[in-house]
Amino acid sequence: MSADKTSRNILITNALPYANGPLHLGHMVGFMQADIWARFQKIRGHKVTFVGGDDQHGTPIMLGAEKQGITPQQLIDNTEAQHKESLTGFSIDIDNYTGTHHAENQRLSSEIYLKLKEAGHIDVRVIKQAFDEEKGMFLPDRYVKGTCPKCKSPDQYGDNCEVCGTTYDTTDLIDPYSVLSGKAPIEKESEHYFFKVSEFESMLSDWKDSGALQPEIANKLGEWFESGLIDWDISRDKPYWGFEIPEAPGKYFYVWLDAPIGYMASHKIHCDNTGDDWASYWQASKSANTELYHFIGKDIVRFHTLFWPAMLEAADYRRPNAVFVHGFLQVDGAKMSKSRGTFIMAETYLKHLNPEYLRYYFAAKLSNNVVDMDLNLEDFTARVNSDVVGKMVNIASRCAGFIVKRFDGQLATESAAPELHDEFANAAEAIAARYENREYSQAMRDIMALADKANQFIDEHKPWILIKDENKLDEVQRVCTAGINAFRSLCIYLKPVLPNLVSEAEAFLNTGELNWSDLQEPLLDHQINKFKPLMTRVETESIEKMIEESKESLEEVSTIDPESPLGKDPISEEINFDDFAKIDLRIAKIVKAEHVDGADKLLQLTLDLGGDTRNVFAGIKSAYKPEDLEGKMTVMVANLAPRKMRFGMSEGMVLAAGPGGSDLFVLNPDEGALPGMRVK
Ligand code: 2FM
Ligand code: ZN
Repeated sequence: MSADKTSRNILITNALPYANGPLHLGHMVGFMQADIWARFQKIRGHKVTFVGGDDQHGTPIMLGAEKQGITPQQLIDNTEAQHKESLTGFSIDIDNYTGTHHAENQRLSSEIYLKLKEAGHIDVRVIKQAFDEEKGMFLPDRYVKGTCPKCKSPDQYGDNCEVCGTTYDTTDLIDPYSVLSGKAPIEKESEHYFFKVSEFESMLSDWKDSGALQPEIANKLGEWFESGLIDWDISRDKPYWGFEIPEAPGKYFYVWLDAPIGYMASHKIHCDNTGDDWASYWQASKSANTELYHFIGKDIVRFHTLFWPAMLEAADYRRPNAVFVHGFLQVDGAKMSKSRGTFIMAETYLKHLNPEYLRYYFAAKLSNNVVDMDLNLEDFTARVNSDVVGKMVNIASRCAGFIVKRFDGQLATESAAPELHDEFANAAEAIAARYENREYSQAMRDIMALADKANQFIDEHKPWILIKDENKLDEVQRVCTAGINAFRSLCIYLKPVLPNLVSEAEAFLNTGELNWSDLQEPLLDHQINKFKPLMTRVETESIEKMIEESKESLEEVSTIDPESPLGKDPISEEINFDDFAKIDLRIAKIVKAEHVDGADKLLQLTLDLGGDTRNVFAGIKSAYKPEDLEGKMTVMVANLAPRKMRFGMSEGMVLAAGPGGSDLFVLNPDEGALPGMRVK
């Protein structure tokens, strides 16, 4: 059945959602992107396993259960049932869904940790941390608030100020208080376990350049290498909801240690149920014929591209073939908002709208980059109605009636348009390549261009007129046979995106399961069934009801990861005009430029801002020799908080433009541009 030459063994995961709240449409971006890819690979004839589960550990789950008066176990069980229902509602076809609190995950996490420890990759150090004496627990940064040491704004988080943007240590906050008890936390020492990630820098650097990462993600890794890989704190003190670390009583694995191992555990459970060979997917020495892909959002890149491959390598497991990163979801051009009713829960959507509308719309917008995606509700309605209902389904409804009523459901022995069939069939490899590369939006455009051609063909041949002429009945049958065949090809092309619609179409076409290889042969002299409408139009009123209901369910669902505020890595987040206005852009003269020992990409610049002198490390070494830069002008962000880098303090950021590599431009000296001058 395979359309590719050889059949592949593909294991797919999507980021495991936290068990502390319901799924919302933002979660569905990754799930749909992964599910479409999995379904595509399946109809190409490959063996695909898609595993998942909830991410069930960490402080928010422990505290959430306490707030609800239930045990963490009850909380994670309830959430798992809810998540599964939402995923099924959106036809996310996961082969096994097991949360990270499962015993199999404890076994694997302990095994991997002990391998790291035995190989000397774990360091134990005493650190000081904020401690809430009333709650008797250490406080993650997000659970401490206070007054910003720089701009004096009250109620700022323990790691950065949302008003002036300064990052600092929790201990720098003025009048700090615990979010849990309201009391001032004390500083307390405790032993923590660290994974020495920097010992894997050379492997990670090779991996970065291996093609496993999108270019913008590989660049991000490059920046992290430049600023120096720091040891990763993998332990948390009790009370903590997680797995206790072997040989370390009272110490627990930080949720992010056992979360990705949850992929392995869920797959292990799947293999135990099906007899599949788990080791051939995970053990480094046995995994040559299997492939592993992780779909994730842009905020959890560091965990999946630094810590995770390093852990796998250290424990003698294989690294992923690729990590596919997607952007965030916006609704109507802005961050999802509870007050506007655009923070839409999966179950709220499912109450009002057909899940396949959203699957199609996301496919029509998704590409293989990390850019945020906008769900514009007007565009959503127009797009689904025009493409799926107006173009695709319309082809079948225009032709099926004639075949069923006038020809007893029998397709002709030849099509009126073999060349149309060939054109559809010949597009197969190009469309497959679009899916394979996750260029779904382009795939949808290509497929809809074919749908336009089929509609044009029907318009030109007008079976509704031909049918009036008794002598033209054969022609009507052949024309409608061509139309039905075009529809069938579109079904195959859209099967990864619209599984329910296509499954109903398969029943109507009386074909059984359609696969990619069926594109080549037309369906002739074949009995089809009565046609039922396969999809109705999106109704604006249903959208309005969904928005209203979303305004009502204002239950607090945090989008921040309180466990790891700084571990999250926004690649490009939208800023509003006020944010933009805060940026102080100035012309600066490069008075000195020097190499930095041990840095491949950085130059150390001394900048004159018209009296004020700044030291800045800039990643422009690929384009300039230091001596060529001296005397040139650049634009710099003059009010960026100083940042400690591996090589020293960087006091600003210079802006250079260009495609990168040797083409990065700063300004030539110009009499009009004087150091210190404001740029905006
Ligand atoms: O950011 C999150 O939502 C995490 N729960 C993702 C975990 S992915 C994997 F590592 F488990
Ligand atoms: Zn501030």
